[in-house]
Amino acid sequence: MDFKLTEEHEMIRQAARDFAINELKPGVIERDEKQEFPKEQVKKMGELGFMGMMASPEYGGGGMDTVSYVLAMEELSKIDASASVVVSVNNSLVCWGLDTYGTEAQKEKYLSKLTTGEKIGAFCLSEPEAGSDATSQKTTAIDKGDHYILNGTKNWITNGSSAEIYLVIAHTDKQKKHRGINAFIVERGMEGFEVGPKEQKMGIRGSDTHSLTFNDVKVPKENRIGEDGFGFKFAMKTLAGGRIGIAAQALGIAAGAYELAKEYSKIRKAFGTEIKNHQAIAFKLADMHTSIEAARHMVMKAAWDKDNGNNYDLSGAMAKLYASQVAMDVTIEAVQVHGGNGYVKEYHVERMMRDAKITQIYEGTSEIQKIVISRSILAD
Ligand code: CAA
Ligand code: FAD
Repeated sequence: MDFKLTEEHEMIRQAARDFAINELKPGVIERDEKQEFPKEQVKKMGELGFMGMMASPEYGGGGMDTVSYVLAMEELSKIDASASVVVSVNNSLVCWGLDTYGTEAQKEKYLSKLTTGEKIGAFCLSEPEAGSDATSQKTTAIDKGDHYILNGTKNWITNGSSAEIYLVIAHTDKQKKHRGINAFIVERGMEGFEVGPKEQKMGIRGSDTHSLTFNDVKVPKENRIGEDGFGFKFAMKTLAGGRIGIAAQALGIAAGAYELAKEYSKIRKAFGTEIKNHQAIAFKLADMHTSIEAARHMVMKAAWDKDNGNNYDLSGAMAKLYASQVAMDVTIEAVQVHGGNGYVKEYHVERMMRDAKITQIYEGTSEIQKIVISRSILAD
Protein backbone atom coordinates (compact mmCIF):
# COMPACT_ATOMS: atom_id res chain seq x y z
CA MET A 1 0.00 0.00 0.00
CA ASP A 2 1.36 3.40 -1.00
CA PHE A 3 -0.12 6.57 0.47
CA LYS A 4 2.34 8.80 -1.37
CA LEU A 5 1.16 11.01 -4.21
CA THR A 6 3.24 11.16 -7.39
CA GLU A 7 5.12 14.29 -8.37
CA GLU A 8 2.49 14.93 -11.03
CA HIS A 9 -0.32 14.66 -8.48
CA GLU A 10 1.47 17.15 -6.24
CA MET A 11 1.85 19.55 -9.18
CA ILE A 12 -1.84 19.33 -10.06
CA ARG A 13 -2.81 19.90 -6.44
CA GLN A 14 -0.52 22.93 -6.22
CA ALA A 15 -1.84 24.37 -9.49
CA ALA A 16 -5.44 24.04 -8.27
CA ARG A 17 -4.50 25.53 -4.89
CA ASP A 18 -2.77 28.51 -6.52
CA PHE A 19 -5.70 29.08 -8.87
CA ALA A 20 -8.20 28.92 -6.02
CA ILE A 21 -6.28 31.39 -3.87
CA ASN A 22 -5.34 33.82 -6.65
CA GLU A 23 -8.39 33.67 -8.92
CA LEU A 24 -11.35 32.31 -6.98
CA LYS A 25 -10.89 33.85 -3.56
CA PRO A 26 -11.07 37.49 -4.67
CA GLY A 27 -14.75 38.12 -5.31
CA VAL A 28 -16.07 34.87 -3.84
CA ILE A 29 -18.14 36.71 -1.22
CA GLU A 30 -19.58 39.12 -3.79
CA ARG A 31 -20.44 36.36 -6.25
CA ASP A 32 -22.27 34.50 -3.48
CA GLU A 33 -24.11 37.68 -2.47
CA LYS A 34 -25.15 38.53 -6.05
CA GLN A 35 -25.70 34.93 -7.21
CA GLU A 36 -23.15 35.65 -9.93
CA PHE A 37 -21.74 32.85 -12.09
CA PRO A 38 -17.90 32.79 -12.07
CA LYS A 39 -17.73 33.24 -15.84
CA GLU A 40 -14.18 34.59 -16.17
CA GLN A 41 -12.84 32.09 -13.67
CA VAL A 42 -14.45 29.17 -15.50
CA LYS A 43 -12.94 30.40 -18.75
CA LYS A 44 -9.50 30.46 -17.12
CA MET A 45 -10.05 26.99 -15.66
CA GLY A 46 -10.76 25.79 -19.18
CA GLU A 47 -7.49 27.30 -20.39
CA LEU A 48 -5.62 25.62 -17.52
CA GLY A 49 -7.15 22.23 -18.29
CA PHE A 50 -9.45 21.87 -15.27
CA MET A 51 -12.63 21.42 -17.32
CA GLY A 52 -11.76 18.13 -18.98
CA MET A 53 -9.12 16.65 -16.72
CA MET A 54 -9.90 12.95 -17.21
CA ALA A 55 -11.04 13.10 -20.83
CA SER A 56 -9.04 11.64 -23.71
CA PRO A 57 -6.24 13.90 -25.00
CA GLU A 58 -7.34 13.37 -28.63
CA TYR A 59 -10.46 15.37 -27.75
CA GLY A 60 -8.58 18.05 -25.83
CA GLY A 61 -8.79 16.35 -22.45
CA GLY A 62 -6.01 16.03 -19.89
CA GLY A 63 -5.97 12.22 -19.86
CA MET A 64 -5.46 12.36 -16.10
CA ASP A 65 -6.56 9.88 -13.48
CA THR A 66 -9.40 10.29 -11.00
CA VAL A 67 -6.94 10.88 -8.15
CA SER A 68 -5.70 14.02 -9.96
CA TYR A 69 -9.28 15.14 -10.44
CA VAL A 70 -10.28 14.75 -6.77
CA LEU A 71 -7.12 16.54 -5.67
CA ALA A 72 -8.10 19.50 -7.86
CA MET A 73 -11.73 19.33 -6.70
CA GLU A 74 -10.66 19.45 -3.05
CA GLU A 75 -8.46 22.50 -3.56
CA LEU A 76 -11.01 24.45 -5.61
CA SER A 77 -13.78 23.59 -3.13
CA LYS A 78 -11.74 24.84 -0.18
CA ILE A 79 -12.28 28.31 -1.56
CA ASP A 80 -15.33 28.31 -3.85
CA ALA A 81 -17.81 25.44 -4.05
CA SER A 82 -19.89 27.34 -6.61
CA ALA A 83 -16.99 27.24 -9.05
CA SER A 84 -16.06 23.66 -8.19
CA VAL A 85 -19.53 22.32 -8.99
CA VAL A 86 -19.17 23.71 -12.51
CA VAL A 87 -15.91 21.77 -12.79
CA SER A 88 -17.50 18.67 -11.30
CA VAL A 89 -20.53 18.56 -13.61
CA ASN A 90 -18.45 19.31 -16.69
CA ASN A 91 -15.75 16.74 -15.88
CA SER A 92 -17.42 13.80 -14.26
CA LEU A 93 -20.92 13.90 -15.67
CA VAL A 94 -20.72 15.46 -19.12
CA CYS A 95 -17.15 14.87 -20.38
CA TRP A 96 -16.84 11.44 -18.78
CA GLY A 97 -20.25 10.37 -20.07
CA LEU A 98 -19.46 11.43 -23.63
CA ASP A 99 -15.89 10.16 -23.60
CA THR A 100 -16.95 6.75 -22.30
CA TYR A 101 -20.17 6.17 -24.24
CA GLY A 102 -20.27 8.72 -27.08
CA THR A 103 -19.65 7.99 -30.76
CA GLU A 104 -16.56 9.35 -32.53
CA ALA A 105 -18.75 11.96 -34.20
CA GLN A 106 -20.27 13.04 -30.86
CA LYS A 107 -16.84 13.31 -29.30
CA GLU A 108 -15.49 15.33 -32.24
CA LYS A 109 -18.44 17.67 -32.26
CA TYR A 110 -19.15 18.10 -28.54
CA LEU A 111 -16.49 16.66 -26.26
CA SER A 112 -13.65 18.63 -27.84
CA LYS A 113 -15.49 21.89 -27.01
CA LEU A 114 -16.26 20.82 -23.45
CA THR A 115 -12.77 19.70 -22.45
CA THR A 116 -11.29 23.11 -23.26
CA GLY A 117 -14.06 25.04 -21.53
CA GLU A 118 -15.05 26.64 -24.86
CA LYS A 119 -18.51 25.33 -24.06
CA ILE A 120 -19.95 24.25 -20.72
CA GLY A 121 -22.05 21.14 -20.22
CA ALA A 122 -25.07 20.26 -18.09
CA PHE A 123 -26.52 16.92 -16.99
CA CYS A 124 -30.30 16.81 -16.96
CA LEU A 125 -31.92 13.94 -15.10
CA SER A 126 -34.08 15.45 -12.33
CA GLU A 127 -37.63 16.60 -12.87
CA PRO A 128 -40.22 18.35 -10.71
CA GLU A 129 -41.67 14.97 -9.70
CA ALA A 130 -38.67 12.74 -10.26
CA GLY A 131 -35.56 13.44 -8.22
CA SER A 132 -34.48 10.47 -6.12
CA ASP A 133 -37.00 8.31 -7.94
CA ALA A 134 -35.22 8.88 -11.20
CA THR A 135 -36.99 6.23 -13.29
CA SER A 136 -40.39 7.84 -12.80
CA GLN A 137 -39.59 10.80 -15.04
CA LYS A 138 -42.14 12.20 -17.45
CA THR A 139 -39.98 13.74 -20.17
CA THR A 140 -40.54 11.89 -23.43
CA ALA A 141 -38.60 11.53 -26.66
CA ILE A 142 -40.68 10.08 -29.44
CA ASP A 143 -38.86 8.26 -32.23
CA LYS A 144 -39.66 9.85 -35.61
CA GLY A 145 -37.21 7.93 -37.76
CA ASP A 146 -34.19 10.16 -38.24
CA HIS A 147 -34.93 12.27 -35.16
CA TYR A 148 -36.71 12.32 -31.80
CA ILE A 149 -39.26 14.84 -30.57
CA LEU A 150 -38.46 15.83 -27.01
CA ASN A 151 -41.08 17.16 -24.56
CA GLY A 152 -40.90 17.78 -20.83
CA THR A 153 -39.36 19.71 -17.97
CA LYS A 154 -36.09 19.23 -16.10
CA ASN A 155 -35.53 20.79 -12.70
CA TRP A 156 -32.63 22.19 -10.68
CA ILE A 157 -30.15 21.92 -13.53
CA THR A 158 -26.62 23.06 -12.64
CA ASN A 159 -25.07 25.28 -15.35
CA GLY A 160 -28.66 25.68 -16.55
CA SER A 161 -28.13 29.02 -18.29
CA SER A 162 -24.36 28.97 -18.78
CA ALA A 163 -24.22 25.61 -20.55
CA GLU A 164 -24.49 25.13 -24.28
CA ILE A 165 -24.43 21.33 -24.37
CA TYR A 166 -26.99 19.41 -22.33
CA LEU A 167 -27.20 15.66 -21.72
CA VAL A 168 -30.91 15.04 -21.33
CA ILE A 169 -32.45 11.81 -20.06
CA ALA A 170 -35.93 10.96 -21.39
CA HIS A 171 -38.39 8.12 -21.81
CA THR A 172 -38.68 6.75 -25.34
CA ASP A 173 -40.94 3.87 -24.33
CA LYS A 174 -42.71 4.06 -20.98
CA GLN A 175 -43.93 0.46 -21.23
CA LYS A 176 -40.34 -0.70 -20.91
CA LYS A 177 -39.86 1.28 -17.67
CA HIS A 178 -36.15 2.03 -17.03
CA ARG A 179 -35.18 0.00 -20.11
CA GLY A 180 -37.17 2.46 -22.23
CA ILE A 181 -35.06 5.45 -21.20
CA ASN A 182 -32.47 7.15 -23.43
CA ALA A 183 -29.91 9.93 -23.10
CA PHE A 184 -29.61 12.69 -25.70
CA ILE A 185 -27.27 15.54 -26.51
CA VAL A 186 -29.29 18.72 -26.78
CA GLU A 187 -27.81 22.03 -27.86
CA ARG A 188 -28.86 25.40 -26.57
CA GLY A 189 -30.55 27.20 -29.40
CA MET A 190 -32.51 24.18 -30.62
CA GLU A 191 -36.03 25.32 -31.34
CA GLY A 192 -38.47 24.69 -28.47
CA PHE A 193 -35.77 24.54 -25.78
CA GLU A 194 -36.17 27.16 -23.06
CA VAL A 195 -34.23 27.96 -19.90
CA GLY A 196 -36.39 28.97 -16.92
CA PRO A 197 -35.58 31.59 -14.27
CA LYS A 198 -32.60 31.16 -11.94
CA GLU A 199 -33.36 29.43 -8.61
CA GLN A 200 -32.75 31.58 -5.50
CA LYS A 201 -30.60 29.28 -3.39
CA MET A 202 -29.28 28.87 0.15
CA GLY A 203 -25.79 27.91 -0.95
CA ILE A 204 -23.54 27.46 -4.00
CA ARG A 205 -25.17 30.69 -5.06
CA GLY A 206 -22.57 31.45 -7.72
CA SER A 207 -23.63 28.35 -9.60
CA ASP A 208 -26.64 28.86 -11.87
CA THR A 209 -29.49 26.43 -11.26
CA HIS A 210 -32.47 26.50 -13.62
CA SER A 211 -35.41 24.50 -14.81
CA LEU A 212 -35.44 23.66 -18.51
CA THR A 213 -38.42 23.08 -20.76
CA PHE A 214 -38.55 21.18 -24.02
CA ASN A 215 -41.48 21.79 -26.32
CA ASP A 216 -41.33 19.60 -29.41
CA VAL A 217 -37.55 19.90 -29.62
CA LYS A 218 -36.24 18.06 -32.68
CA VAL A 219 -33.18 16.06 -31.64
CA PRO A 220 -31.27 14.25 -34.43
CA LYS A 221 -30.99 10.50 -33.97
CA GLU A 222 -27.20 10.71 -34.04
CA ASN A 223 -27.46 12.67 -30.76
CA ARG A 224 -28.68 9.62 -28.82
CA ILE A 225 -25.97 8.26 -26.54
CA GLY A 226 -25.43 4.49 -26.69
CA GLU A 227 -27.77 1.70 -27.74
CA ASP A 228 -31.54 2.20 -27.63
CA GLY A 229 -32.65 1.85 -23.98
CA PHE A 230 -29.21 2.54 -22.48
CA GLY A 231 -30.18 5.93 -20.98
CA PHE A 232 -30.89 4.90 -17.40
CA LYS A 233 -27.76 2.79 -17.11
CA PHE A 234 -25.86 5.69 -18.69
CA ALA A 235 -27.18 8.00 -15.96
CA MET A 236 -26.40 5.54 -13.15
CA LYS A 237 -22.90 4.73 -14.38
CA THR A 238 -22.12 8.39 -14.91
CA LEU A 239 -23.46 9.36 -11.50
CA ALA A 240 -21.40 6.65 -9.81
CA GLY A 241 -18.27 8.55 -10.86
CA GLY A 242 -19.89 11.95 -10.34
CA ARG A 243 -20.47 11.08 -6.70
CA ILE A 244 -16.71 10.76 -6.18
CA GLY A 245 -16.35 14.34 -7.46
CA ILE A 246 -19.05 15.60 -5.09
CA ALA A 247 -17.44 13.69 -2.22
CA ALA A 248 -14.21 15.56 -3.05
CA GLN A 249 -16.16 18.81 -3.13
CA ALA A 250 -17.58 18.08 0.34
CA LEU A 251 -14.09 17.20 1.56
CA GLY A 252 -12.76 20.50 0.21
CA ILE A 253 -15.50 22.55 1.85
CA ALA A 254 -14.75 20.84 5.18
CA ALA A 255 -10.98 21.23 4.82
CA GLY A 256 -11.29 24.91 3.84
CA ALA A 257 -13.50 25.69 6.83
CA TYR A 258 -11.21 23.76 9.17
CA GLU A 259 -8.13 25.66 7.98
CA LEU A 260 -9.88 28.98 8.61
CA ALA A 261 -11.04 27.85 12.06
CA LYS A 262 -7.55 26.66 13.01
CA GLU A 263 -5.95 29.95 11.98
CA TYR A 264 -8.62 31.97 13.76
CA SER A 265 -8.09 29.99 16.98
CA LYS A 266 -4.46 31.11 16.98
CA ILE A 267 -5.23 34.84 16.82
CA ARG A 268 -8.51 35.31 18.69
CA LYS A 269 -8.06 35.85 22.40
CA ALA A 270 -10.57 35.22 25.18
CA PHE A 271 -9.93 35.07 28.92
CA GLY A 272 -6.36 36.27 28.41
CA THR A 273 -5.22 33.63 25.94
CA GLU A 274 -5.65 32.50 22.34
CA ILE A 275 -8.83 30.43 22.09
CA LYS A 276 -6.80 27.44 20.82
CA ASN A 277 -5.59 27.12 24.43
CA HIS A 278 -9.12 26.37 25.59
CA GLN A 279 -9.51 22.63 25.42
CA ALA A 280 -13.09 22.88 24.11
CA ILE A 281 -11.76 24.65 21.02
CA ALA A 282 -8.67 22.45 20.66
CA PHE A 283 -10.84 19.32 20.85
CA LYS A 284 -13.21 20.69 18.22
CA LEU A 285 -10.20 21.15 15.94
CA ALA A 286 -8.99 17.64 16.76
CA ASP A 287 -12.39 16.17 15.82
CA MET A 288 -12.54 18.24 12.64
CA HIS A 289 -9.05 17.19 11.58
CA THR A 290 -9.75 13.51 12.28
CA SER A 291 -13.02 13.37 10.36
CA ILE A 292 -11.53 15.27 7.42
CA GLU A 293 -8.63 12.84 7.26
CA ALA A 294 -11.06 9.88 7.31
CA ALA A 295 -13.14 11.49 4.55
CA ARG A 296 -9.99 12.11 2.50
CA HIS A 297 -9.04 8.44 2.74
CA MET A 298 -12.52 7.42 1.56
CA VAL A 299 -12.48 9.86 -1.35
CA MET A 300 -9.02 8.67 -2.40
CA LYS A 301 -10.02 5.02 -2.11
CA ALA A 302 -13.04 5.59 -4.37
CA ALA A 303 -10.87 7.47 -6.90
CA TRP A 304 -8.26 4.71 -6.74
CA ASP A 305 -10.97 2.07 -7.31
CA LYS A 306 -12.10 3.94 -10.41
CA ASP A 307 -8.53 4.31 -11.69
CA ASN A 308 -7.77 0.64 -11.12
CA GLY A 309 -10.78 -0.84 -12.84
CA ASN A 310 -12.53 -1.87 -9.61
CA ASN A 311 -16.23 -1.38 -9.01
CA TYR A 312 -16.65 2.06 -7.43
CA ASP A 313 -20.43 2.20 -6.91
CA LEU A 314 -19.99 1.26 -3.24
CA SER A 315 -16.80 3.17 -2.40
CA GLY A 316 -18.08 6.27 -4.25
CA ALA A 317 -21.45 6.20 -2.46
CA MET A 318 -19.77 5.69 0.93
CA ALA A 319 -17.31 8.51 0.24
CA LYS A 320 -20.13 10.89 -0.69
CA LEU A 321 -22.30 9.89 2.27
CA TYR A 322 -19.46 10.30 4.74
CA ALA A 323 -17.70 13.35 3.30
CA SER A 324 -20.96 15.30 2.97
CA GLN A 325 -21.77 14.64 6.64
CA VAL A 326 -18.24 15.74 7.56
CA ALA A 327 -18.71 18.90 5.47
CA MET A 328 -21.88 19.72 7.38
CA ASP A 329 -20.43 18.92 10.85
CA VAL A 330 -17.12 20.69 10.28
CA THR A 331 -18.61 23.86 8.81
CA ILE A 332 -21.06 24.17 11.72
CA GLU A 333 -18.15 23.84 14.15
CA ALA A 334 -16.00 26.25 12.12
CA VAL A 335 -18.73 28.89 12.55
CA GLN A 336 -18.77 28.10 16.29
CA VAL A 337 -14.99 28.50 16.61
CA HIS A 338 -15.32 31.93 14.96
CA GLY A 339 -18.01 33.02 17.45
CA GLY A 340 -19.92 36.12 16.27
CA ASN A 341 -17.49 36.60 13.41
CA GLY A 342 -18.49 33.18 12.13
CA TYR A 343 -21.94 34.58 11.45
CA VAL A 344 -20.54 37.40 9.32
CA LYS A 345 -19.91 37.01 5.58
CA GLU A 346 -16.41 38.48 5.68
CA TYR A 347 -15.07 35.40 7.51
CA HIS A 348 -16.21 32.92 4.81
CA VAL A 349 -17.31 30.09 7.11
CA GLU A 350 -21.01 30.99 7.10
CA ARG A 351 -20.97 30.61 3.29
CA MET A 352 -19.19 27.30 3.60
CA MET A 353 -21.86 26.09 6.04
CA ARG A 354 -24.57 27.01 3.53
CA ASP A 355 -22.60 25.47 0.66
CA ALA A 356 -21.98 22.21 2.57
CA LYS A 357 -25.69 21.33 2.71
CA ILE A 358 -26.04 20.74 -1.01
CA THR A 359 -23.49 17.93 -0.93
CA GLN A 360 -26.04 15.88 1.05
CA ILE A 361 -28.70 16.49 -1.60
CA TYR A 362 -27.42 16.51 -5.17
CA GLU A 363 -26.10 13.56 -7.18
CA GLY A 364 -28.23 11.41 -4.89
CA THR A 365 -29.29 12.41 -1.36
CA SER A 366 -27.66 10.79 1.66
CA GLU A 367 -30.69 8.50 1.94
CA ILE A 368 -30.15 7.41 -1.68
CA GLN A 369 -26.46 6.71 -0.97
CA LYS A 370 -27.62 4.46 1.87
CA ILE A 371 -29.88 2.62 -0.58
CA VAL A 372 -26.92 2.13 -2.95
CA ILE A 373 -24.64 1.04 -0.08
CA SER A 374 -27.13 -1.30 1.59
CA ARG A 375 -28.09 -2.96 -1.72
CA SER A 376 -24.41 -3.48 -2.46
CA ILE A 377 -23.43 -4.95 0.90
CA LEU A 378 -26.53 -7.15 1.06
CA ALA A 379 -26.26 -8.43 -2.52
CA ASP A 380 -24.15 -11.49 -1.72
N1 CAA B 1 -24.49 1.05 -12.81
C1 CAA B 1 -25.14 0.43 -13.82
N2 CAA B 1 -26.45 0.14 -13.79
C2 CAA B 1 -27.13 0.49 -12.68
C3 CAA B 1 -26.53 1.13 -11.58
C4 CAA B 1 -25.15 1.42 -11.68
N3 CAA B 1 -24.49 2.04 -10.72
N4 CAA B 1 -27.47 1.35 -10.63
C5 CAA B 1 -28.62 0.86 -11.12
N5 CAA B 1 -28.42 0.34 -12.35
C6 CAA B 1 -29.39 -0.32 -13.23
C7 CAA B 1 -29.91 -1.62 -12.61
O1 CAA B 1 -29.04 -2.70 -12.90
C8 CAA B 1 -31.25 -1.77 -13.28
O2 CAA B 1 -31.11 -2.25 -14.59
P1 CAA B 1 -31.52 -3.78 -14.99
O3 CAA B 1 -32.90 -4.02 -14.46
O4 CAA B 1 -31.42 -3.78 -16.47
O5 CAA B 1 -30.50 -4.64 -14.32
C9 CAA B 1 -31.70 -0.32 -13.43
O6 CAA B 1 -30.55 0.49 -13.36
C10 CAA B 1 -32.67 0.10 -12.36
O7 CAA B 1 -32.04 -0.09 -11.12
P2 CAA B 1 -32.83 -0.11 -9.75
O8 CAA B 1 -33.92 -1.14 -9.80
O9 CAA B 1 -31.82 -0.22 -8.66
O10 CAA B 1 -33.53 1.33 -9.77
P3 CAA B 1 -34.32 2.11 -8.68
O11 CAA B 1 -35.52 2.69 -9.30
O12 CAA B 1 -34.49 1.27 -7.44
O13 CAA B 1 -33.33 3.35 -8.36
C11 CAA B 1 -31.52 4.52 -7.38
C12 CAA B 1 -32.04 3.21 -7.95
C13 CAA B 1 -30.08 4.23 -6.93
C14 CAA B 1 -32.31 5.00 -6.19
C15 CAA B 1 -31.50 5.59 -8.50
O14 CAA B 1 -32.80 5.91 -8.91
C16 CAA B 1 -30.77 6.86 -8.10
O15 CAA B 1 -29.55 6.90 -8.14
N6 CAA B 1 -31.51 7.95 -7.70
C17 CAA B 1 -30.90 9.22 -7.40
C18 CAA B 1 -30.85 10.07 -8.63
C19 CAA B 1 -29.68 11.02 -8.62
O16 CAA B 1 -28.61 10.74 -8.10
N7 CAA B 1 -29.85 12.18 -9.26
C20 CAA B 1 -28.79 13.09 -9.43
C21 CAA B 1 -29.10 14.03 -10.55
S1 CAA B 1 -27.67 14.82 -11.22
C22 CAA B 1 -27.20 15.93 -10.10
O17 CAA B 1 -27.73 16.03 -9.04
C23 CAA B 1 -26.04 16.80 -10.54
C24 CAA B 1 -25.72 17.89 -9.62
O18 CAA B 1 -26.44 18.20 -8.72
C25 CAA B 1 -24.52 18.65 -9.75
P1 FAD C 1 -36.99 13.83 -3.32
O1 FAD C 1 -36.62 12.69 -4.17
O2 FAD C 1 -38.39 14.34 -3.38
O3 FAD C 1 -36.62 13.49 -1.82
C1 FAD C 1 -37.15 14.18 -0.70
C2 FAD C 1 -36.62 13.50 0.56
O4 FAD C 1 -37.09 12.13 0.62
C3 FAD C 1 -35.08 13.43 0.59
O5 FAD C 1 -34.63 13.55 1.93
C4 FAD C 1 -34.81 12.03 0.08
O6 FAD C 1 -33.56 11.54 0.51
C5 FAD C 1 -35.97 11.27 0.69
N1 FAD C 1 -36.27 10.04 -0.05
C6 FAD C 1 -36.75 9.93 -1.33
N2 FAD C 1 -36.88 8.64 -1.66
C7 FAD C 1 -36.47 7.91 -0.59
C8 FAD C 1 -36.37 6.50 -0.32
N3 FAD C 1 -36.68 5.59 -1.22
N4 FAD C 1 -35.90 6.13 0.90
C9 FAD C 1 -35.55 7.05 1.82
N5 FAD C 1 -35.63 8.39 1.63
C10 FAD C 1 -36.08 8.80 0.43
N6 FAD C 1 -30.34 17.29 -10.96
C11 FAD C 1 -29.89 17.04 -12.22
O7 FAD C 1 -30.38 16.16 -12.89
N7 FAD C 1 -28.88 17.79 -12.73
C12 FAD C 1 -28.28 18.79 -12.05
O8 FAD C 1 -27.37 19.43 -12.56
C13 FAD C 1 -28.74 19.06 -10.71
N8 FAD C 1 -28.20 20.08 -10.00
C14 FAD C 1 -28.77 20.42 -8.80
C15 FAD C 1 -28.33 21.58 -8.14
C16 FAD C 1 -28.96 21.99 -6.98
C17 FAD C 1 -28.50 23.23 -6.30
C18 FAD C 1 -30.02 21.22 -6.45
C19 FAD C 1 -30.75 21.66 -5.20
C20 FAD C 1 -30.42 20.06 -7.07
C21 FAD C 1 -29.81 19.66 -8.26
N9 FAD C 1 -30.26 18.55 -8.95
C22 FAD C 1 -29.80 18.27 -10.21
C23 FAD C 1 -31.36 17.75 -8.43
C24 FAD C 1 -30.93 16.81 -7.32
O9 FAD C 1 -30.19 15.73 -7.84
C25 FAD C 1 -32.22 16.33 -6.59
O10 FAD C 1 -32.71 17.44 -5.86
C26 FAD C 1 -31.95 15.15 -5.69
O11 FAD C 1 -31.62 14.00 -6.44
C27 FAD C 1 -33.15 14.84 -4.78
O12 FAD C 1 -34.35 14.80 -5.50
P2 FAD C 1 -35.64 15.65 -5.01
O13 FAD C 1 -35.19 17.02 -4.79
O14 FAD C 1 -36.74 15.39 -5.95
O15 FAD C 1 -36.00 15.04 -3.59
